[in-house]
Amino acid sequence: MPKLWGGRFTKGVSKLMSEFNDSLPFDRRLWKEEIEASTAYSSALGKAGIFTRQQQTNVARALREIGKEFSGGKFRFRPEDEDIHTAIERRLVEKVGETGKKIHTGRSRNEQVATDERIFLKSAAAEAGVLIRELQSAVRDLAASTRDDILPSYTHLQQAQLIRLGHYFMSLFFMLEDDYRRLNDLEARIDVLPLGSGAVAGSTVKIDRSLLKRELSFSELSPNSIAAVSDRGFITDFLFVAAQTLIHLSRFAEDLIMWSSTEFAFVELDDTYSTGSSMMPQKKNPDSLELIRGKVARSISDLTSLLTLQKGLPLTYAKDLQEDKEPMFDSVDTLFSSLRVFSGVISTLKVKRANLMRNTDDSIYATDIADYLVEKGMPFREAHKVVGRLVLAGTETGKRLREFPTAELKAISPLFDSEYYKIFDPHKSVEGHDVYGGTSSKRLKEQFNLADRILSRRKAGKR
Ligand code: ARG
Repeated sequence: MPKLWGGRFTKGVSKLMSEFNDSLPFDRRLWKEEIEASTAYSSALGKAGIFTRQQQTNVARALREIGKEFSGGKFRFRPEDEDIHTAIERRLVEKVGETGKKIHTGRSRNEQVATDERIFLKSAAAEAGVLIRELQSAVRDLAASTRDDILPSYTHLQQAQLIRLGHYFMSLFFMLEDDYRRLNDLEARIDVLPLGSGAVAGSTVKIDRSLLKRELSFSELSPNSIAAVSDRGFITDFLFVAAQTLIHLSRFAEDLIMWSSTEFAFVELDDTYSTGSSMMPQKKNPDSLELIRGKVARSISDLTSLLTLQKGLPLTYAKDLQEDKEPMFDSVDTLFSSLRVFSGVISTLKVKRANLMRNTDDSIYATDIADYLVEKGMPFREAHKVVGRLVLAGTETGKRLREFPTAELKAISPLFDSEYYKIFDPHKSVEGHDVYGGTSSKRLKEQFNLADRILSRRKAGKR
C-alpha cells in the first residue's frame, strides 16, 4: 500500500528513511485522543455539508469500532502507517470505503498532532493533580503523627535550630501545594483547541470551530492558526512543572536517604519500598528514594530537549516537532510513577523517635541563649558575640553549656542569671518560635488547618 501522500512521488521511501520518519512506535499512544478529535471533526464536516447525515453516522460508528479494536488490543498496524493519524485514517477507509477518504477534507496532521497532544496533556494534568493531592494527604498524616517529635533542623547540613518533625514534613506539603497551583495555572494554556487551523493558514472548509470546541470540551479556540500548529509552549509548561515537582521530591528523598543511614537512623523505610544487596546480607537499601532522586535527571533532560527543539525553529510546522512526543510521554510517566512511589514511602515510613536528638548537644540552643540575652536587654549582635564566646569556652573545656556555673557565666556577661538553665528544654525551644509559619504547636496547628481546608476542597470536587 502506498503512503497517504504518495501521489507526487514516483518512488517509495527507503526502509531506512521509513523507520527514521515514522512516529508510530511512540505516538500510537495517542489513539484515543486521535479518535476523539476525528469524531468531532466528522461532525463539523457533516455540518459543513462534506458528509451527508448518513455518511457522518457511518464514519462516527466506524471510529467507535476502531476505538474498540485499540482497547481490545486487536488493531493491526500496517507497514505504511507512518503515525497514529495516518493509521486511523487508513483503517477508517478500509471500514467505510470512499466516504472515509473525505475525513481529511480541510484538515492537516499539523493541527491533528497539536490537538491530540492538548487532549492528552489536559487529562495528564488532571491526573497529576490527583496524585499530588494524594501525596499531600499522606504527608499531612505523617506530619500529624510526628507533630510532637523534636529534632535538629539543618542549614548548610550543620545542626541549626530545633524543630518539630511534623513541621518539617509540612514543608513538603506546602512545596507540593505550589506545584499543584502551577499545574492549575498551566491548564488554562493547554485548554485551547487548534482544530480548524488546517496546515497553517486556517481551514478552507467552513468548519464550525465552536462545535468542535463543545464536542471536545475545550475552553477556548486558538485565535491564530500559525501559533496553533507551531507552538509547543504548553508542553514546555507541563514539563517544567513536572521537573519542579520532581526536584522537590528529590530533596526530600535525599534527606530521607541520609536519615535512614546508620549514622542518622532517624527513619526506617518499610520493607515494601526497600531492596537488599546481592552480596552484603545486612543491607537494606532505600532504592525507591534513590530512584526518585535519579529520575529527576530524566525529567530535567526532557524539559531541556523540548526547549532545545523549539529554539530558533522557523515557523511554522517542521518535522523537528515530531520529537516533542517522547519527552512529553517520558515526563508524564516519570512524574506519575515517582509521585505514586513517594506516596507509598511516606505512608509506610517508620520514625525512630528515640534517635532524633541522639547526636545533638547543647550548642543547638545557642540561638535560644542569644534570644534570652536579647530579652534581658542586650542588642542581638552583642548577644551573638557573647554566646559565640560561650560555645568556644564549652568546646575548649569539654563542658556542656548547661554545666557552666552562674559565676563563670556572669564573667562572660553580667546579664546571665539562674533563668539560663531553663533554656535547655527542647519543648521550650520549639514553642519559642510562635509566629505564623513557625514551629510552635499552635503555629503547626494552623498549618494543619490550612492543609485540611486545601484537601477538603478536593473532596468537594473543586480543583
Ligand atoms: N507525525 C507527525 C508529528 O508527530 C505528525 C505531523 C506531520 N505533519 C506533516 N506535515 N508531515 O509531528
